[in-house]
Amino acid sequence: MCGIVGYIGKRQAYPIIINGLKRLEYRGYDSAGIVLWGNNQPILYKQKGKVSDLENSLNALNTEAYVGMGHTRWATHGEPNDVNAHPHMSMNGKFFLIHNGIIENYSRLQKRLKDRGYTFRSETDTEILVNLIEYVYLKGGIDAETAVRHALNKVIGAYGIVVFCVDEPDKLIAARKSSPLVIGIGKGEYFIASDATPIVEYTNSVIYLNDNDIAIIKRCELSLKTLGNEEQIPIVQTLDIEIGDIDKQGFDHFMLKEIFEQPRSIMDTLRGRIAPDNTDIRLGGLFAVMDKLTNARRIIIAACGTSWHAGLVGEYLLEDFARIPVEVEYASEFRYRNPIINQDDIVIAISQSGETADTLAAVRLAKEKGATVLGICNVVGSSIPRETDAGVYTHAGPEIGVASTKAFTAQVTVLTMMALILGHRRGHITTEMFNKMVEELRDVPNKIEKILQKNQEIKEIAAIYKEATNSIYLGRGYLFPVALEGALKIKEISYIHAEGYPAAEMKHGPIALIDENMPVVFIATKDKSYEKIVSNVQEVKARRGKIIAIVTEGDTTISSMADHVIEIPETMEFLGPLTTVVPLQLLSYHIAVMRGCNVDQPRNLAKSVTVE
Ligand code: G6P
Repeated sequence: MCGIVGYIGKRQAYPIIINGLKRLEYRGYDSAGIVLWGNNQPILYKQKGKVSDLENSLNALNTEAYVGMGHTRWATHGEPNDVNAHPHMSMNGKFFLIHNGIIENYSRLQKRLKDRGYTFRSETDTEILVNLIEYVYLKGGIDAETAVRHALNKVIGAYGIVVFCVDEPDKLIAARKSSPLVIGIGKGEYFIASDATPIVEYTNSVIYLNDNDIAIIKRCELSLKTLGNEEQIPIVQTLDIEIGDIDKQGFDHFMLKEIFEQPRSIMDTLRGRIAPDNTDIRLGGLFAVMDKLTNARRIIIAACGTSWHAGLVGEYLLEDFARIPVEVEYASEFRYRNPIINQDDIVIAISQSGETADTLAAVRLAKEKGATVLGICNVVGSSIPRETDAGVYTHAGPEIGVASTKAFTAQVTVLTMMALILGHRRGHITTEMFNKMVEELRDVPNKIEKILQKNQEIKEIAAIYKEATNSIYLGRGYLFPVALEGALKIKEISYIHAEGYPAAEMKHGPIALIDENMPVVFIATKDKSYEKIVSNVQEVKARRGKIIAIVTEGDTTISSMADHVIEIPETMEFLGPLTTVVPLQLLSYHIAVMRGCNVDQPRNLAKSVTVE
């Protein structure tokens, strides 16, 4: 969701904030704004559009200041326009505030403020909060920090906020509940942001705020308290990302860079976890729960979006090899439908960002019910890894493209390792087989390398289908979740309507859609369902659908029927999701670029969905 950057220190705040906003723009990108404390007065600029639009309007203006904050928005309350953009100023001009999250009891608070004479310019919940803080401040004759604390105690909802008070311009006040905030520590300066990407070029010492924390940040001093005014000892952590990780490195888009990074990112996920002779896999983050996991009677996986698709692959893997029943839940449904969770259940939350509101809520619910909760997350230090009992980091590196690619393959890699460990420990996979499977897993990056060489070929197919308005993705077994993921990828970035289905299920509905204008993408590599999927290909061909098939190198049967084939190297069946998804990512990417879509920042989407 929204991106937040704040700075206080000895340098010019403006370039730090504007560059930080550009780095955070992947989180939200419908409007942007900044407030600076220059020459003893606040300078506020905000407008609809990209951070670069904001920057262009500011080019000729004086931006000299040593403290300030900026925001890039993903609209929740109120359409994207100049007035609704953050920062918001309180009615009497005492406070400025930037906010990521949602104030749920906004209408009650607004009514009370209106009764006390407050008027509002925007349609946002954020403006209500900044006015509430001002009201409490002026009425109580208290300092800014106390006013923020009192106001937040009246708020129901989620927030990561930074507050600036014109009467106390030597400080920024930051607070969090359910929306992430991280503070970078420099020498005589502090950086505040909703994730580490704007901070990493200045410092790698950071403090992650916990829920209900308030930080009072001055140039040379930081104090941390709870909403209940108890002093906290800040825990300083070291960032594990580098500045090179968040650049495009010569690629036209982050998404393309991230697709091409997959051989390396999968290797990073495997690194240090597989014995050189393939006889062992060790996931350090699970050591403490390994016995519980091995003896689990049931595993529940909760996730959203692409991570949910990874979870579905996880179900197939874990049931196939570990023979433990697995249920895969949309986190948003799980949290509200009164699910049955037993104390001996293992709940696995999968999340790239580690911040998705629904997944985090599922974690909390599962913990409350006494289950053992594990996380599979990419962003180190994010909320889910901090709240789970144990877990595994995917180590895919920062993923900036809103449509997830390398995070998915990293998640599936972790789930594959877990399934192999459990399958072996539970005696369903022989040692000989285990070693062979591990060897094959290690070879996946080489195979993806070969698939990436087909980029041009895939681009040519994309050119033929770039005007499509609908499409169907079909797969069976391990490749069914890949069909879902392929369909999601094309929807997200090219706005082509797409449906993913288990191939055999097609005849129970989607087949009605097939005519000579319908592209149907089959994920049909050689596995135990191959013969069956050949029949499904025939069914589509008989209705003149246009067939694009991902097949195993040397395939002749489907190749003779399909309009286009993309051949990929053979692999063991359980590794199919890791290889077959790559051509689908490339296909979506090229189609979206050819349609002139903003690939890295698709309309209406956000990278990290911190509201429910
Ligand atoms: C958003 C993103 C998706 C992502 C989903 C879950 O919708 O646009 O790409 O899969 O959130 O995010 P998570 O960080 O929990 O994996």
